[in-house]
Amino acid sequence: MNNNWNSIILVLLQCLVFNISIWAAATDMAAPVDMAARADDFWDPPLYDKSCDMQRRWAQSLLGEYHFHLAERILDVGSGDGLITAGIAKKYPMAEVVGLDLSPKMVAYASRTHKAANLKFVEGDAQALPFVHKFDVVTSFSTIHRLKEPEKAIKQIYRALKPGGKFVAAFPVLGSAIMSEAIAAVDTRPEWQKYFSTPDRKAYAFSEEAIREWLDAAGFLHVKADTKWADEIYESEEKFRDNLRATFNQRGVLPKDKEQEFFSEVVKVYLRKFPKDEKGQVHFYFNRIEIVAVKPLARL
Ligand SMILES: C[S@@+](CC[C@H](N)C(=O)[O-])C[C@H]1O[C@@H](n2cnc3c(N)ncnc32)[C@H](O)[C@@H]1O
Repeated sequence: MNNNWNSIILVLLQCLVFNISIWAAATDMAAPVDMAARADDFWDPPLYDKSCDMQRRWAQSLLGEYHFHLAERILDVGSGDGLITAGIAKKYPMAEVVGLDLSPKMVAYASRTHKAANLKFVEGDAQALPFVHKFDVVTSFSTIHRLKEPEKAIKQIYRALKPGGKFVAAFPVLGSAIMSEAIAAVDTRPEWQKYFSTPDRKAYAFSEEAIREWLDAAGFLHVKADTKWADEIYESEEKFRDNLRATFNQRGVLPKDKEQEFFSEVVKVYLRKFPKDEKGQVHFYFNRIEIVAVKPLARL
């Protein structure tokens, strides 16, 4: 009986210590948040949660290649709905894990949906991280390409890492020309054009070289930055549409009751070029860069 009580008290103390120190990291969060970007909180966390398998596959594939068993603290930048961050917390129960995201809706959803003694979600801006030498690992999935100042965020991530710490990230680097054309074919139709003062055609383009330069400029060493291409398969047209819908920066400008119609039309145009296969699956040939970089123990 005494032993049982001892173990219960030990677990409670462990939770308390985790929470106090995670909270200490979280309360550093008084740094400036990009209020304009935050106000534009177009995310629909349940929609993201049920439609973004491709983004999960990218994170899980990279996380599966590395082990952070000695990490005491891990920061996940752009933690979104929290599923990936929660997976990290589960895999490394002895590490304190903090998921940071600009979107209050995403942070509220993640905090509600994923609870663990070693896990906290906080609001914050990747481009204004307040942490200095705090984390053994910083991860970031499907987020860096969305930032106004990705180079600045990489410098901030470097600063947040302890010497010897690792930055592990994956994000798409080149928008799909076919997808951009499909969006353009629809958003220029008179019934849709009125909603878009500036169109969002997911037409970003970062070169591997530029990303390596950002990492070098921040001070990272042992940089791996490799672009991977894959045939991303969606089990149905609806799944493909919802992934597009969930991640579209300007979905907030469309009336709620018109959203599905807009994205269904985009998918129809896309499928004219890339028809579904015999199982009804949609194929999307897409890319992401995988980054692993180390903050040196000491600058030479
Ligand atoms: C596509 S979701 C990725 C979520 C999760 N990492 C995943 O891979 O499933 C991108 C996330 O980045 C967040 N984000 C965008 N700009 C940000 C910023 N400046 N600072 C922190 N998070 C940001 C968004 O709010 C969103 O939750």
